[in-house]
Amino acid sequence: MDKKWWKNAVVYQIYPRSFQDSNGDGVGDIQGIIQRLDYLEQLGINVIWLSPVYESPNDDNGYDISDYYAIMDEFGTMEDMDRLIVEAKKRSIHLVMDLVVNHTSDEHAWFIEAKKSKQNPYREYYIWRDPRDGGVPNGLGSVFSGSAWEYDEETDQYFMHLFSKRQPDLNWENKQMRYEIYDMMNFWLEKGIGGFRLDVIELVGKLPDREITAHGPQLHEYLQEMNRETFGKYDVMTVGETNSATPQQAKLFSGAERNELSMVFQFEHMVLDQQPGKSKWDLRPLSVVELKQVLSTWQMELQNEGWNSLFWNNHDQPRIVSRWGNDQKYRVESAKMFAILLHMMKGTPYIYQGEEIGMTNIVLTDISQADDVETKNMYQERLAEGYSEEAILAAINTKGRDNARTPMQWDDSKEAGFTTGHPWLPVNPNYTTINVEKALTDQDSIFYCYQKLIQLRKVNPIMVYGNYQLLAEEDASLFAYTRTFQGETWLIVANFSEQVNEVQFTEVATDLEPIISNSTTHKRYDLQQLRLAPYETFVVKLDSSLYVK
Ligand code: GLC
Ligand code: CA
Repeated sequence: MDKKWWKNAVVYQIYPRSFQDSNGDGVGDIQGIIQRLDYLEQLGINVIWLSPVYESPNDDNGYDISDYYAIMDEFGTMEDMDRLIVEAKKRSIHLVMDLVVNHTSDEHAWFIEAKKSKQNPYREYYIWRDPRDGGVPNGLGSVFSGSAWEYDEETDQYFMHLFSKRQPDLNWENKQMRYEIYDMMNFWLEKGIGGFRLDVIELVGKLPDREITAHGPQLHEYLQEMNRETFGKYDVMTVGETNSATPQQAKLFSGAERNELSMVFQFEHMVLDQQPGKSKWDLRPLSVVELKQVLSTWQMELQNEGWNSLFWNNHDQPRIVSRWGNDQKYRVESAKMFAILLHMMKGTPYIYQGEEIGMTNIVLTDISQADDVETKNMYQERLAEGYSEEAILAAINTKGRDNARTPMQWDDSKEAGFTTGHPWLPVNPNYTTINVEKALTDQDSIFYCYQKLIQLRKVNPIMVYGNYQLLAEEDASLFAYTRTFQGETWLIVANFSEQVNEVQFTEVATDLEPIISNSTTHKRYDLQQLRLAPYETFVVKLDSSLYVK
């Protein structure tokens, strides 16, 4: 298999607004990130994915960009940004920028021009359609509720927005627009960045008139063109956000011969707790069997072709320990289980800020405490549809994006060491017990489990290149698999439940020292006689392959 530096990498995602404030205005900033680089070096990561820091009116917290060549005032200056790239490089950390090019802000100069008239040279940079029967051009909906079409009185046409109405979609059929984007990407590449995370990239080949949004017929053509004109000339990593990609499609994006992207984020595992065919707010319990099946399918399908990215969390998802673990009694155990399960799989692991100390969801008691545009739109929509306020809030507290966006918890001082001022979003009240300072003084903390996993990956090619095989497929609480590389096999076993689990393997291996585990009692493992505590997880090296009874 193709060797690439990013296959050995572990990525840490920073949501700058919530990471570290350096000047007391309550908003995280680039200087704050620079101050915390030593911490990231200690954790051991070698890539930062930085959520957008470009100029933006913040309708969607930076995912609505008004100038790709400028840094948001609140975050700092271009000098700060250049400094961050240099300081990260000193610590062997690549900086991956977020590339949001499916849409811009409605305050981007192109859109301000485009709105002026149908004849404006920038008109075609966006997607405009005439009204139909006095209303919207068609039934396309926005991800953030309501129609994807917004009426512009001045020119009597609708423009398209798959996200908020302040995020008009760019028209990728327009070649001039595409090449302006490529120029901008080259501007950043020349600064020495480590690559791009491409926001909702599966949408750029859309065919609005046929109501096709994801995976349109020209999508891969555009990506090959982009690769050729920009990052293909550099040794960087690229990861596309593809919310609906199947493994087949992922191979098109990430196949080595395809000259498109390094890898994509797939979300099939992230929808397992929502009702099929419904929205993310319509909840159902997770089935561990389904989770194993989905993740294993991705592992197997991309075993020899393409490359997986591995994640439980990002700035759009609730905290995994609250979502599918136990954020009270077994917070530490379950957080470590998620860490080990994920980092032992084949692919590039991503850690979202705070995950490495087991940060949890927050509880909103009133909609006025919400910040996120998706949450607020959904609240209004569902209220109008007759849902009870209680039910809506319950869904928000389970799935809302603000859960991941509360400030990073650094220590137990006021506002968790995030700011000396008033934070833009409240700090989770549990910061006095869950914080970095505390994690660093406790050798058994979640932090050190992540640190160890990252170290292990650096010296064990089996973690990077080994083949994956799921065991005990039908077991409702045991998540077990092997990795095999050059005659060596590792066994990963997790008790994905709150019950004690008795497990037997046919393998005669009675005195194995774990490579890593989350147990404080088991120093060695006997595979013929396992009594696993809630969420107990371990990894051992085997002499041969084995089967579960
Ligand atoms: C992606 C981002 C999300 C944003 C959306 C629109 O899904 O991760 O935060 O709201 O795209 O840019
Ligand atoms: Ca600040």
